[in-house]
Amino acid sequence: MPDIQRILDSIAAEAAAAPDRGRVADYIPALARIDPMRFGIAVVTAGGRMFAAGDAAEPFSIQSISKVFALTMALGKAGPGLWKRVGREPSGSAFNSIVQLEHEHGIPRNPFINAGAIVVDDVILGGGDPRGAIGEVLRFVRYLAEDDEITIDMEVARSEAETGFRNLALANYMKSFGNLSARVDDVINLYVNQCALAMSCRQLAMAGRFLMDDGRHPGTGRQVVSALRARRINALMLTCGHYDGSGEFAFRVGIPGKSGVGGGILAIVPGQASIAAWSPGLNDRGNSLLGSVALERLSDATGWSVFQALRE
Ligand code: DON
Repeated sequence: MPDIQRILDSIAAEAAAAPDRGRVADYIPALARIDPMRFGIAVVTAGGRMFAAGDAAEPFSIQSISKVFALTMALGKAGPGLWKRVGREPSGSAFNSIVQLEHEHGIPRNPFINAGAIVVDDVILGGGDPRGAIGEVLRFVRYLAEDDEITIDMEVARSEAETGFRNLALANYMKSFGNLSARVDDVINLYVNQCALAMSCRQLAMAGRFLMDDGRHPGTGRQVVSALRARRINALMLTCGHYDGSGEFAFRVGIPGKSGVGGGILAIVPGQASIAAWSPGLNDRGNSLLGSVALERLSDATGWSVFQALRE
């Protein structure tokens, strides 16, 4: 086993000194206030050990990373029928792009672009009320992380609800194609609240454990999803988790990862580790700049990659 703590300490030291930190997302006003100097990283190993460095205990807005948990829930409700309403191909376009939707008749390319995640939330709503569904998502994430202190940042949710005209447009457009059952306002209400989940790197790495462990919850020993489904969620993270930066992330880091505009990244090394990195500044694809660098350093130092044979 590599000396993970030493590696994380050196990654955090490099991040603290980095002159180029990217740009903090400001299209959601509540996110624009976050200090770009923040950096955290946490690793939970398959053996159950936690390693962390930097601001790993500070909660941040997980934003699109929540789409991994929402997809897991929606697959539980709709099963493979979900794939009639959402594709499984990388989009090669920005996370909030609308152009592809017209060509593809309101069927989003994948569940991680905003349009796809909105359809996923429509499945979770299942005709019910948004409050109940928001509670269900929160309970699920708390269960995965074994942490009841995880909350939703209401200010971030409100801020996005007040300014999220693009997502409203995506939802209305899909509704016009018959790919949304619930009221547009209800789906967007669930969506912004789910994106406003506030979690630290430690909590996020804990929540991701089932994806490193063939779908099993390491705390309870129960299957959250089947091994096959966990593998497929990981595949989608690898191919679509960084939007039009997914190829570059696979090239540099080589493990499934899901980013969020809050600057977080959840990354999974099947059988080895669940990792969360956070730095609020984003690159030009909307993914955490230093978070991506940190994961590249970590995979280089440990050899963790789905494309490399594991030799102890
Ligand atoms: O819908 C949005 O724009 C945000 N709530 C989430 C976008 C996001 O995190 C994209 N990830 N890099």
